[in-house]
Amino acid sequence: MATSSSTPSTTGHGPHSAPHGGNPFTPGFGLTPMILAGRDVAIEEFTAALAGNVPEARAILISGARGSGKTVLLTEFRELALDAGWTDLRMHTSSTSLTDELRSQAIARLRELDPEAETSHLTSARISALSASRDVVQRYEGEGEVLTTVLDRLAALTDEDGGGLLITLDELQSVDRDQLHALTQHVQDLIGSGHAVAFIAAGVRTGVDALLDHERTTFLRRAHRIEVGSVDVGTAAEAIRMTIADTAKTITPEAAVLAGEISQGYPYLIQLIGSKAWQHSGDAETIEIEDVRRARDTVVAAMIKNVHGPALRGLSARKREYLRAMLEDEGPSAVGDIARRMAIDPRNQSTYRERLIEDDLIRPAGRGFVEFSLPYLAEALRHEEREGVGADIEPDRGLTRSHRSRRDPRPR
Ligand SMILES: Nc1ncnc2c1ncn2[C@@H]1O[C@H](COP(=O)(O)OP(=O)(O)OP(=O)(O)O)[C@@H](O)[C@H]1O
Ligand SMILES: [Mg+2]
Repeated sequence: MATSSSTPSTTGHGPHSAPHGGNPFTPGFGLTPMILAGRDVAIEEFTAALAGNVPEARAILISGARGSGKTVLLTEFRELALDAGWTDLRMHTSSTSLTDELRSQAIARLRELDPEAETSHLTSARISALSASRDVVQRYEGEGEVLTTVLDRLAALTDEDGGGLLITLDELQSVDRDQLHALTQHVQDLIGSGHAVAFIAAGVRTGVDALLDHERTTFLRRAHRIEVGSVDVGTAAEAIRMTIADTAKTITPEAAVLAGEISQGYPYLIQLIGSKAWQHSGDAETIEIEDVRRARDTVVAAMIKNVHGPALRGLSARKREYLRAMLEDEGPSAVGDIARRMAIDPRNQSTYRERLIEDDLIRPAGRGFVEFSLPYLAEALRHEEREGVGADIEPDRGLTRSHRSRRDPRPR
């Protein structure tokens, strides 16, 4: 997983900016944070790619673990492109046909951009302001218009005003391979015709790697790969401090450091610990170390529920056993020890090792050692051991009076 010690950068265009006085953190998937930790190099390179004329630099593949900030980076790139006067087409992997979607989106954009897209003419013989019936002829509606022509026309229009055409595709791991092939074929054609075109895809690393093994994904294999992941804890602490500095509250240096440590630099946790510490500070002007300390358990529970729970649910018994065998060690585990604890042959050990690395649950940690890939996986496994596989992290035991009872406490 890539790490970066760079300074966090302010995002110029978070669509989810907190209202004045509100909690400024964004602990939700796909939500752009106020401060981006550790993405400055990627952003600089993309800005240069937009301005430059190296087509290869504009084919980008963002990959990483769940919650590592892929969607956020994709969104940031899109906003940069829009600022630079580009036009975007967003593909959704859930659509039944990517090319149909490409077509309808391209037509919609053409209508906005092309002054000749709609020609209205008056069909009534007696033309008067009141009785004229209008027939709107839409240029791109017809069956006859081939997708290549539509895209070519759109790209020509976007080139004209110094911009370009950006096509984005998130959740790449769930896309159909043939559909992806058809889509990238169109992208390649456009680039081949000399148009300014950028293509950005993002997806979970493991799924993306499996996809790239396929022979018809050459285009993506050659794309510029950006691996997003955790940042170092110092950068995380600074991102938390800067997020709060933009508000009416402040955070003590020690509290920011502890929050950075609890996040372990993992983007989702940076937002989560920031958000919870903010909540715990209540009306106080300063977020103290105690607010952060009190938030830790809730944060770990949310990480287990939202990130590890789904990943562990479908795990085979042997793989789970392998992960549990790692729990005895404080830091990285020696693979020899794991084999011994599982009472299996070291060669079988390496089969499970490979599969768990593919699943992004563990990663190599020097020769003969492995460690958990994401923060608090050990806690998630211990929770499972205690409560049973698939047990809810926050059992629903609390009782709250509903609004009915609060309004009218006496039953009638
Ligand atoms: N560079 C960053 N700095 C700080 N926080 C970030 C950064 N990138 C993302 N986040 C936060 O991390 C969380 C996850 O971001 P995002 O949804 O982009 O992850 P993802 O990799 O797309 O996840 P998934 O695999 O589920 O699609 C969000 O709460 C977001 O606000
Ligand atoms: Mg995402």
